Amino acid sequence: LGYRLHVHDQVDSTNSRLMALGQAGAEHKTVLAAEWQTGGKGRRGRAWLSPLGGGLAFSVLWRFSRTASDLSCLSLAVGLGLVRALRELGLADVQLKWPNDVLHRDRKLAGVLIELQGEAQGPSMAVIGVGLNVRLPEPLRAEIEQPVTDLMEGLGEPVDRNHLLVECLRQLDQVLVHYEQDGFAGLRAEWEASHAFHGREARMIAAQGESWRGRVAGIDEAGALLLDTETGQRRFYSGELSLRGV
Ligand code: ATP
Ligand code: BTN
Repeated sequence: LGYRLHVHDQVDSTNSRLMALGQAGAEHKTVLAAEWQTGGKGRRGRAWLSPLGGGLAFSVLWRFSRTASDLSCLSLAVGLGLVRALRELGLADVQLKWPNDVLHRDRKLAGVLIELQGEAQGPSMAVIGVGLNVRLPEPLRAEIEQPVTDLMEGLGEPVDRNHLLVECLRQLDQVLVHYEQDGFAGLRAEWEASHAFHGREARMIAAQGESWRGRVAGIDEAGALLLDTETGQRRFYSGELSLRGV
């Protein structure tokens, strides 16, 4: 597949570590995985908990010829790659939650955190971080304030993390190459078909607290979420938003 893989026992965050390597010139398709993260990051400064041996935490460095501002749908493409990988491993019912979560039966199984770097013009570098729960111990679950699940629960049998990583990297390669060449348009229908909230009543909540209620009508070609509200259809682009059921 052409990846260059580094495996660490322990790091603060695979994203932070790989970003530093990328800034120091690390190659396209460098991958950094860790057994354990002491400071795993979610979006907006939130924490991602990854237990020793019970999670898959890795980051992929991908160099794009376009600017960072042209990569708005990247996290959607990545989510789709993970869904394909999980289905390949036998996990049916796996779904996406806009913009960056992977759910199994409405509970969070995996998350994606993308960090971008680049000038206003010219190429950019993406650090694509994936955290996937393999076997989440009970005490850790209790620390997470939303419904969570792991692969052990979903599959009913243990899964080999090496095999899981390889399948994720294989599927990510496919979606990223597609995305790089043709953009998100060709992935959109499959993404929508896998969206847990498609056609459902939901609320969109902004970081500042404002919220909108409506029915999820889909996503557009730019990856924006479409919500049919009482006052018409609204489009949400920003990553500073959270989608919730009602
Ligand atoms: P949204 O993306 O819709 O804003 P979110 O609550 O999932 O919602 P993120 O920033 O994407 O927010 O993810 C970080 C959150 O994920 C944490 O605040 C915590 O609730 C949850 N979380 C942390 N570790 C795990 C884990 N191992 N498995 C599942 N969820 C986790
Ligand atoms: C989210 O749902 O908010 C995204 C969670 C992303 C977690 C992964 S684990 C590997 C990589 N390194 C990090 O620090 N975060 C991502």
